[in-house]
Amino acid sequence: MSTTVSASSMSPDSPSPGSSSARAANRLTIFWVLVMLALMPILAILGMTLRVGQSNLLPLLDAERFYSIMTLHGLGMVGLWFVAGMAALCALLRRYIELRNWVNWIAFLGTLVGVVMLIIATLIGKYGPGWYFLYPLSITPSGVWQDWVTYTFLSAIAVLGVAWTVWCVEVMWGIARRYTLPSALGWHYITGKDGPEVPPIITITTISMIANLIGLVSAVVMLALYLLELLGVTDVSDALLMKNLVFLFGHILVNITLYLGVAMVYELLPEFTGRTWKNNRLISLAWNVVLALVVFAFFHHLYMDFVQLRWLHVIGQITSYASAIPAAVMSIFGTLAIVYRASTRWTMTSLLLYCGVLGWAIGGIGAVIDSTIAVNTQFHNTLWVPGHFHTYFLMGVVLMILGGAFYLSERLSGVPENVKRSRLIASLICVGGYGFVLMFYVGGANSVPRRFAQYTDTTAHGSTLALIAVLFIAVLLAGLLMYVWETGKRCAIALRAG
Ligand code: HEM
Repeated sequence: MSTTVSASSMSPDSPSPGSSSARAANRLTIFWVLVMLALMPILAILGMTLRVGQSNLLPLLDAERFYSIMTLHGLGMVGLWFVAGMAALCALLRRYIELRNWVNWIAFLGTLVGVVMLIIATLIGKYGPGWYFLYPLSITPSGVWQDWVTYTFLSAIAVLGVAWTVWCVEVMWGIARRYTLPSALGWHYITGKDGPEVPPIITITTISMIANLIGLVSAVVMLALYLLELLGVTDVSDALLMKNLVFLFGHILVNITLYLGVAMVYELLPEFTGRTWKNNRLISLAWNVVLALVVFAFFHHLYMDFVQLRWLHVIGQITSYASAIPAAVMSIFGTLAIVYRASTRWTMTSLLLYCGVLGWAIGGIGAVIDSTIAVNTQFHNTLWVPGHFHTYFLMGVVLMILGGAFYLSERLSGVPENVKRSRLIASLICVGGYGFVLMFYVGGANSVPRRFAQYTDTTAHGSTLALIAVLFIAVLLAGLLMYVWETGKRCAIALRAG
């Protein structure tokens, strides 16, 4: 077995590829990939169940079950792709920096514990306020769910939050030990001063970790407010504050997960095109601007709250538009430039990375349209919203991470791929995935509301669209399951080989 996920530009701190520390790191990477392979189809089937319920195909779901599944599906998917992105990224970052295995283990075990608690709260306790917890639904005495359910759910979020904060800090620390913060952020490229060569993956990761810590602090404040209220120390919290805190956390987590995927594109795609993609002034500038904008773009989540300050809405619209520019100019055009007229090897990894960037671009356009205040007043509570976020998530970052995870499993197992089969898998995922999200867009444009367990009367056309979506999801699922088989097989071989 090849133990060399690590590569050309090794850090002086990096363990040598054959060392026991490198082998332990590789083993943990495989465990992460296996968890991803196990959870991905389960969470996808839960998503499919929601669409089956909305299509009236089978009278499967009462509203209570629908919302608990929606909560588990939404939170589970967001969490899954964050940890899968972090795990794959850490394996690639080890090319440049040292990361301690025990911290990665804390993240791994903390994630498993958190996920189990989440499953108990939602599937057994039927906890269903959506990923945003919908304060004050959970709080007794007016609370909708039994106390143990609320406590289990909030504890799950706390465990996940602690484990992920420790992980983010470790990645920052690992970077800080090799690069200073200004050089990791690429400031010497921007100012034209001398400095070390910093690969884009380091700059993008640094920016993502800083942003994510801001989001995690917001989650901590929110959980503390919940706790104070549950313990009777405070009477009630400001509902608007609670909503803002949870959305700041969710907005940043989702965006930085995207950046983790994009960092993988910068790092891996050049290997398949025979070209290099080095850091420079424009790339560093673009990503530093992203750091500033991603936080302020959060204000687009406040449009529906008329009591919020009007200028916050205006900032939300301007920064949402502006944040598309550095991403589009540097990363999307960069991707096009790197494959243009190159003799690219179109394998599972390169195809999924490339298609992921495409999904990011298409979903991004849907998101920018929705971030326009005048449009948002019409579209906000329609299926347009799951339409755009499923596009840049499912067809964007998920594909990038699947590409990265396949790359790792292939390198670690040494088992070459059957390129024809890989292309079939990528085709099934793309046809099924785009058909599925298209039904969301069509629904949104025709005023079908989102988060409805059942469509009746004026929304009945939503059921027909849901039915068509189910057919496409079946195609998507076939592609995902073939991917699970191909990657899982390689992981098993890599594990057996030690
Ligand atoms: C096979 C893939 C998937 C299917 C079939 C699926 C299906 C669905 C459906 C039907 C809904 C409810 C839509 C509504 O009426 O509002 C939903 C919501 C959601 N999905 Fe997915 N989805 C998939 C993949 C993903 C992925 C990859 C993510 C990653 C983040 C994700 C995150 C979410 C979130 C956050 C919600 C909103 C939950 C809420 O409103 O609380 N889904 N999904």
